[in-house]
Amino acid sequence: MKSSIIHISDLHFHTYPKNFHELKSKRLIGMLNSIFRRARQFPIDRSEKLVEKIRKMKCDHLVISGDLTQLSLESEFSLARKTLDPLLKNNSRVTIIPGNHDRYVSQSLSNDLFKKYFGEFFGKEEIHLQEINSDWIIIGWDSVHPNDWFTASGTVRRSTLIETEKIIRSFSKDKKFIIVNHYPLTFPANWKLDHFHELYNLIPVQKWVLRFSQIRLYLHGHIHKNWVHQLSRESGEELLLVNSAASSAIPSSEKDSSFHQIEIDGENLNIKQIILN
Ligand SMILES: [Fe+2]
Repeated sequence: MKSSIIHISDLHFHTYPKNFHELKSKRLIGMLNSIFRRARQFPIDRSEKLVEKIRKMKCDHLVISGDLTQLSLESEFSLARKTLDPLLKNNSRVTIIPGNHDRYVSQSLSNDLFKKYFGEFFGKEEIHLQEINSDWIIIGWDSVHPNDWFTASGTVRRSTLIETEKIIRSFSKDKKFIIVNHYPLTFPANWKLDHFHELYNLIPVQKWVLRFSQIRLYLHGHIHKNWVHQLSRESGEELLLVNSAASSAIPSSEKDSSFHQIEIDGENLNIKQIILN
C-alpha cells in the first residue's frame, strides 16, 4: 500500500509580548533572540508559502514535530493555527507534537496553550497514536517541559517508553512504526553536543528505539540543519532518522532541504528532500 507523509518542523511563529505579565525573564532573552535573528529567518510570508506548497503536494498525512512558536505566547499559537489552518481540515490525517519553545515558561495544566490550539492533533493522553495505512502506525511523543533560562532540554519519560512498548506489542509483528519526537537521536559527524539543548536521556532513548525492529522511522526537528541518518541494528532493517527543522526559514548554505516527503510503498521508505525557495 502506498502513502505519502509530509514532515515539517520548527516553524517558530513569532509575535511580541504585549504586557509585563508576558515578559517573564526567559521570554525576555527569547525575545531578544527573536528580534535579532528569528524574525529575519522566519518572516510570516514564508509560512504562508510553505502552506501553499504543501497544499499542492501529495500528502496523506502531515507531521509537524514541534516548535510552532518562539515564546509560547497565545498570540503566536493563534497565528500558527490560523496560518496552518488550510492543512488541518482532517485531524486523522495530521500529527502535531510540541517542541521546547511551545512550553517556554511554566504554564498551569489548565492553561496549556499547545493543547488549547493543537491538542486535537495529539490527543488527550501522553502518547499520540494514528494509523497511516494498514501497515504503518505513527506514535507521537511529548518530551518537552519548561527549564531554566539557559536550558532547552527535554526528557522522554519512562512512562512514555513503557506505554509505547505496550502499544507496539499489542499489534502483530509485521506492523511498522514511525516515532515522532521533537529532539534528535543522532547528530552530524564532528557535532559538538550541547547537553543543555538535547534530550537528558538521549542515549537510553536511542538504545530503546533500536531494540524494536518494528520502529523503522524517527521524525524530529529542533536543530536547524536538516538531515537523513541511518542507524543499523544487530538484526532487522536499519532505523531512518529524519530532521525537517526550520521548514519555513529562508534557505541557507547550511541546509540542503526545507522539509521532507516520505513515500511509503509497502515495507519500503523513500525520503525526498524538498526545498522551499
Ligand atoms: Fe526545539
